[in-house]
Amino acid sequence: MSQKIQVFDTTLRDGEQVPGCQLNTEEKVTVAKELEKLGVDIIEAGFPISSPGDFRSVEAICKAVTEPTVCALTRAKKEDIDAAAAALKFAKRPRIHTGIGSSDTHIHYKFNSTREKILEQGVWAVEYAKSFVEDVEFFAEDAGRADLVFLAQLTEAVINAGATVVNLPDTTGYLLPHQMFQRINYLFENVPNIHKATISMHNHNDLGLATANTIAGIQAGARQVEVTINGIGERAGNTSLEEVAMILNVHKDLGFETGINPQYLYPTSTLVSNMMGMTVQANKAIVGANAFAHSSGIHQDGFLKHSENYEIMKPEDVGVPSSAIVLTSRSGRAALRHRLNLLGFEFEKPELDKLYTRFLLMADERKMIQDEDLKELVG
Ligand code: KIV
Ligand code: ZN
Repeated sequence: MSQKIQVFDTTLRDGEQVPGCQLNTEEKVTVAKELEKLGVDIIEAGFPISSPGDFRSVEAICKAVTEPTVCALTRAKKEDIDAAAAALKFAKRPRIHTGIGSSDTHIHYKFNSTREKILEQGVWAVEYAKSFVEDVEFFAEDAGRADLVFLAQLTEAVINAGATVVNLPDTTGYLLPHQMFQRINYLFENVPNIHKATISMHNHNDLGLATANTIAGIQAGARQVEVTINGIGERAGNTSLEEVAMILNVHKDLGFETGINPQYLYPTSTLVSNMMGMTVQANKAIVGANAFAHSSGIHQDGFLKHSENYEIMKPEDVGVPSSAIVLTSRSGRAALRHRLNLLGFEFEKPELDKLYTRFLLMADERKMIQDEDLKELVG
C-alpha cells in the first residue's frame, strides 16, 4: 500500500513573487481552477495582508474551487492573521499558514530577537490563528540552517499549540539531500508529538537541489510537499510540482503516491508559463520542449526500435502530445527515413544513402531540418 503525499501548490504565492509574474484576480482564479483539475490537495492562494488585490484574489479563489484546501500566508503578526482569516471566509476548507524565522541568522539579523522570544511568538501565532480556523500550518523559515535542537523545541511547541502541519523550509536552498534526510529523521526521533502533525517540505532551488531535497524529506517522514508549477519562485525557484509527481509515479517502489492527474501536467505548465510570461527552459524535466525530443543518431535509432530505450515515461502520460524526432546534422539514417516515411516518401537503401549525404550538408548549414526542408531535399 502506497502512502499518500499531500501536494501543496504555492504557484500563486511563492511562484507569483517572481518579478514580472504577478497575476490579477481573474488570472489567479483561472490558474486555481486548473490546479484543482490537476488534483492538488492544497492551494496557497496568496498573502492577503500584502495588498488589497491579493486579498481579493484569495477571497475569489475560495469561492471558485471546492475540492482543495485554500491556504493564506501570514507572518506571525495579528494584523496578518486577521487579514488571512477574513480573506478565507468563503473557503470550504480554509488553512492559515503562519510562521517566523528559525535560524540564528534570521533570529539575529532579521528579527533582532532571541530563540526564546521567537518560540513564544510562534506559539502565540498558532494559537491566534487557531481561534479562526482548525487547520493551521506553521512555517519555521530557514529551517535548513536552523540549530537542530532549537528546531526540535520549536516544532514540539507549535504542535502542542495546535499546528496541524509543520513546514520546515530550506528557504535558502542550502542543504544537500543526505543532510535533509538526517535533519528530518532527527526531528522524528526527538520531537515527542511529531506524529500529531504533518511534516512539510518547502525547498528552494538555489543549488539545483530542491527536488532531490524534497524526495529526501519524504523518505525521512515528511508527508506534504510545497511545490510550484514549472518550479517558479523566489530566486532560483521552488521545488517543481511536475518533477516530484513524476518521480513518485515512476519510482512506485518508493511506496508513495499523490493525487495528481499526470495528464494535466503539461497543459497546466503551459497555462502558467503563458499567463506569467515566464518561459520554461527547453531542457526542463517533464514539461520542457526537449523533454521528449530525440536528436542524436544513436538515440534516435534506439528510440525508433523501442521507445523504452530512451524514455522512462510516455509523453502522453504527462499531457505532451508526442515524442519528437528532431533532425540535425547529428541525426542518423533511421531518423531521416522515419521522418520521410511520415511525409509519405519511401526510399530503398542506396537512394536513402545518397539523400543522407545531401541531408548532412543541408543540416550543417541550416542546423534544424524541418518538413519543408525535407520536401526540398527530395525535390
Ligand atoms: O521559503 C520560505 O521559507 C517561505 C515561507 C514563507 C514558507 O516561502
Ligand atoms: Zn519559499
